[in-house]
Amino acid sequence: MLDCLQLLHFHIGSQIPSTDLLQEGVYEAAQIYSELVRLGANMKVIDIGGSLGIDYDGSKSGNSDLSVSYGLEEYASAVVNAIRVICDRKSIKHPIICSESGRAIVSHNSILIFEAMDAAAPKIPAINQVNIPFIMEGLSEDARADYCNLSEAAMRHDNETCLFYADQLKQRCVEQFKEGTLGIEQLGAVDGLFDLVTKMIGASEPVRTYLVNLSVFSSIADSWSIGQVFSIVPIHRLDEKPTVKGVMSDLTCDSDGKIDKFIGGLTSLPLHELDNGSGGGGGSANGRYFLGMFLGGAYQEALGGFHNLFGGSSVVTVLQSDGPQSFAVTRTMHGSSCADVLRMMQHEPELMFDTLKHRAEEFCGFDVAALSGSIARSFHNMPYLELASSCSLTALNNGGFYYCNEEDYNAALVESGASEEEQWSYCIA
Ligand SMILES: Cc1ncc(COP(=O)(O)O)c(C=O)c1O
Repeated sequence: MLDCLQLLHFHIGSQIPSTDLLQEGVYEAAQIYSELVRLGANMKVIDIGGSLGIDYDGSKSGNSDLSVSYGLEEYASAVVNAIRVICDRKSIKHPIICSESGRAIVSHNSILIFEAMDAAAPKIPAINQVNIPFIMEGLSEDARADYCNLSEAAMRHDNETCLFYADQLKQRCVEQFKEGTLGIEQLGAVDGLFDLVTKMIGASEPVRTYLVNLSVFSSIADSWSIGQVFSIVPIHRLDEKPTVKGVMSDLTCDSDGKIDKFIGGLTSLPLHELDNGSGGGGGSANGRYFLGMFLGGAYQEALGGFHNLFGGSSVVTVLQSDGPQSFAVTRTMHGSSCADVLRMMQHEPELMFDTLKHRAEEFCGFDVAALSGSIARSFHNMPYLELASSCSLTALNNGGFYYCNEEDYNAALVESGASEEEQWSYCIA
């Protein structure tokens, strides 16, 4: 059988940061290859698997997982040279070399676009709003001493000591609260005092939490699972200077459904104030604010599951074209509807719909047709937040239409002549 063996395949890992590390692995594999030849195998091919890394943070350094210190040419030379050295030393024929680079090929080919729906800013009280006598009322001796030390440090403009005592005071108050010796109002007031101190000495700038219309687990799985940092930037208002800092919180109920690590070691991202009433900033795009996550490649969507019952996002295929815009949208694919996701979880959405409809008929004295239409729409819609004005998406390639606007939806059903049963397949891409 040994003469049937022709190929040696290996994979030393993904995103190898330097050619030294790469060569080490390839030398070892080339030795195995040459030994197989010596033992009589009819060897022809070495497949080096993946490992060609990409420069996520633009630093071109081999010191972290976020970048690589080599280019494509250097990668190829390192592989070819390592194999050649070993083969020449053993006087064996040079093999055909194959590679199967994953992320280096696909990463640049997809962008995840998502909308920031709202932004919450921490409420920091003005100095005259902090009720010091009220705070002092319930404090322990040690906490009072912290407050006195904090005041003295503030008089001396000793910021570091201020921060130390403010933090210690806060911790002591949390302990007192847990023991039941401090009320929630006083704890809240101490919290406000701490935020005020950190803001006044410039130790931390208030960071907003942007509520983004996605599930980190479904669309940026590596961010949650292995702490992969991706390039995330606003794709709107690029002619305006970002004036606030923000982190991102997704729609799921998990506390780790968030993004607070960004390229460059940043723990918040420079962003624009939202123009939807929550932030008060100006801007374009009818007040809507979209961000892009770059270099996700094909892996993120493939890894993403149905965690918290959020399915895959909608996909638009964009190709280069010779037209005036230089691009063409060639295909759209609607993401999973609530019914799709329920079906994936082994539920029966049609049955659920019928049951709900019958219950509505049984118990509601008002317009049951409108109610069941509304229930049907919630099954057909995606589990993500949809603005009434934005969720009509025309599929370019298959002539299908996707609706959540009531009139559009009903008109389309009439036009399509779809029966109630057919409505299920009608709205699913
Ligand atoms: C066998 C094999 N080949 C290729 C790849 C692609 O790796 P990369 O994305 O680092 O190029 C992988 C990824 O794990 C793999 O397991």
